[in-house]
Amino acid sequence: MRLLGDDYVLWRDAEGLLVGAPDRCPHREAPLSAGSVKDGCLTCAYHGWTFGAGGRCCDVPSAYEGVPVPPRAHLSTVGVAKKYGLIWVCPGEPVAPIPEMAVDEDPSFRRINTEVKVWHVSAPRMVDNFLDIAHFPFVHVGTFGGAQDPRVLPIELVDLEGGFHGYRYEVVAKNPEEAQKTSGSAGPFVKRVLTTGFYLPLTVRSTISYETGLEHILMLVSTPKDEVTSYFTFVVWRNDDFDVPADEVIEFDKAIGEEDRIMLERLSGELSLERTALVSVQADKAPVEWRRRFTAMLGA
Ligand code: FES
Ligand SMILES: [Fe+2]
Repeated sequence: MRLLGDDYVLWRDAEGLLVGAPDRCPHREAPLSAGSVKDGCLTCAYHGWTFGAGGRCCDVPSAYEGVPVPPRAHLSTVGVAKKYGLIWVCPGEPVAPIPEMAVDEDPSFRRINTEVKVWHVSAPRMVDNFLDIAHFPFVHVGTFGGAQDPRVLPIELVDLEGGFHGYRYEVVAKNPEEAQKTSGSAGPFVKRVLTTGFYLPLTVRSTISYETGLEHILMLVSTPKDEVTSYFTFVVWRNDDFDVPADEVIEFDKAIGEEDRIMLERLSGELSLERTALVSVQADKAPVEWRRRFTAMLGA
């Protein structure tokens, strides 16, 4: 996998623990991801050096028995964790923990994961979009958008549960047949109470509550592959009766994501973090505040 312009290899050691390291063999820089894994050990495809738990080099096939492995042959590993069905990789010192989603422990909710896609857009542009509601009547006119008043009421930003920061708002969403498995209700329109917020650097959570008591929580995860390419995936938690198959529940979310992707891939280059580079209005309050905090985090 590629993260912030660098490639990493990930594998599971003999205990099943994830190991992550730069995808470059310390011997002659062959990509370790071209190697093979057996019994939890990763063997480089070029000269067969083998790496085990913690990235320790445990075999140099060209060396006679008793010759010690050079100390610099061990891999410098990176932080890797598994949470919410995703693998989280941290190439440096973590500046913040993985966001806490208390709902993951709640038995009345099920968690639904989906594939990780590549979007040809910078990750900050994705976060900017996920915090923005003013695009709904335009970009999402083919799914849920277009039923609401395009005017956005004044936004009040507050600290939300789990270290997220954002706002609460209501929208009237179109509820076409394809949406009804997700919204859990019939009728051409449905009221959605949403709470949307960010967790630095690049995670957005949107909680959608329906009048029926159904909650549909989305965690939108944007990961920079490089400046202008990102991975995108989302995780859903939902307190329904688990009747509708998971794939069908998230079909509508996927269609919405596609609308965002098509729009965002039309934007070129990085999102400027310069405060006055873009023109913003009241409706952009959340993305502007995210950008301010994100820039401060990068500066620190
Ligand atoms: S480059 Fe990996 S073993 Fe030589
Ligand atoms: Fe959108």
